[in-house]
Amino acid sequence: MRKMSDFGFCGLLGFLFVSYCSSSPKKVNNKLIIDFEWSFINFTWPSAEDYHKSLFAKRYIPENNMISNVKIYDGFMYLSLPRMKNGTPVTLAYIPITNRSDKQEELLVPYPNWDMNVKIGNCTTLQNVRGIEIDKFGVMWVLDGVRVNDLTDCPSKLVLLDLNNFGSVMDSFEFPESICPKKGCFLYSLVVDDRDGGYAYITDHSLIDPGIIVYSRHKNRAWKLRDRSMFSEVKDNLIVDDVTVTNMAPVAGIALSPTPRFAKQDKSVYYSSLSGYNIYSLSAKILMNEDYCKSGKWRQDVTLVGKKESQGDGMIMDHKGNLFLSYLAKHSICKWNTKKKLNDDINVVAKDANMLSWPDGFSFDSDGNLYVAVVGGNKYYSASNYIGTKYKILKLRTRTKSYIYS
Ligand SMILES: *[C@@H]1O[C@H](CO)[C@@H](O)[C@H](O)[C@H]1NC(C)=O
Ligand SMILES: *[C@@H]1O[C@H](CO)[C@@H](O)[C@H](O)[C@H]1NC(C)=O
Ligand SMILES: *[C@@H]1O[C@H](CO)[C@@H](O)[C@H](O)[C@H]1NC(C)=O
Repeated sequence: MRKMSDFGFCGLLGFLFVSYCSSSPKKVNNKLIIDFEWSFINFTWPSAEDYHKSLFAKRYIPENNMISNVKIYDGFMYLSLPRMKNGTPVTLAYIPITNRSDKQEELLVPYPNWDMNVKIGNCTTLQNVRGIEIDKFGVMWVLDGVRVNDLTDCPSKLVLLDLNNFGSVMDSFEFPESICPKKGCFLYSLVVDDRDGGYAYITDHSLIDPGIIVYSRHKNRAWKLRDRSMFSEVKDNLIVDDVTVTNMAPVAGIALSPTPRFAKQDKSVYYSSLSGYNIYSLSAKILMNEDYCKSGKWRQDVTLVGKKESQGDGMIMDHKGNLFLSYLAKHSICKWNTKKKLNDDINVVAKDANMLSWPDGFSFDSDGNLYVAVVGGNKYYSASNYIGTKYKILKLRTRTKSYIYS
């Protein structure tokens, strides 16, 4: 018999135990392990001289560097570092996964190398990366599409890097202005569907034109879906770490269900806006159908699957159809078995006001662990002089793997 605190047990009993599970945070906390933590982000500089020069010239301003997403592949942890302020020399990096106990202030290694990171204005290199995903072939799909500040004039793009070949560029697709304007676009998160040559479903979190963008690798084309379900929902303010977020925040988190057991069934795409409570879904086949998307008829297929108890950022699905998501205002991570009704089966699996300060990107490893990047969003924006740990990678045992491996 498993412990009462075990979310698997709570999940089994469903809604009867939701209140019990939600109100026993002390026990569930024990399951969260701090894997890495940082008070500021630093890198493996080519030389001491390079480090000091960059500091002096303010090309590197330590407190301006933030982590957003994490993805694990083959012994390495890849991290995206969106450039939300200046002085951020690196936008994609990795750290080797080790079993050392002391994993504080680990130096990040630019990926694939320094050249692909530091050349702001050279549009063939990475400019401003946020969303990343790694498919089962070891290809990293990199969303170079944060265009909400003046740090680059390059068009946004999706870059495919071969992790099994030193991160060499396999493909690079530039989004046209009509889909993702280089002044104002905000490519946020993505999931990868490996059918028919590979698709990416991408959230555009921009205020000027929020929506979901579909990219077909086979067609080398992209199209965009716009619907009110992807807009900000303004209900009440979002308060995290005593700071009130008043910004409108449209569609952010996106998740894809695993390969269904029967060929006739389809996969579902789930999405939610950051400042909203509703989770919506659409059949992946609809997204894959460019003509149908352009007809607008798909809007009648948008399904409201349920209401959450908090606004949230990142989400991810495992190979069994469990959706993990962040409850920002409640400093929690929740789990919903999508085979059941959301409001009957959403459980808190981790809650901790100190540890879970803005959980953002999620990843699974191949050993049954879920990882989440805790990014202290409000600490980054409101208090550059904040002292203490700002970024953490936390680990939680789920005994499941990514939807990618299904
Ligand atoms: C940053 O990393 C470099 C090594 O790449 C090291 O020489 C330097 O001391 C580090 N800075 C701090 C403040 O730890
Ligand atoms: C780390 O892993 C190595 C090799 O797998 C093993 O020999 C070592 O004992 C491990 N150390 C810890 C602290 O677990
Ligand atoms: C842009 O960067 C790439 C990769 O480092 C490099 O090969 C190329 O020469 C650069 N282009 C310009 C115009 O500097």
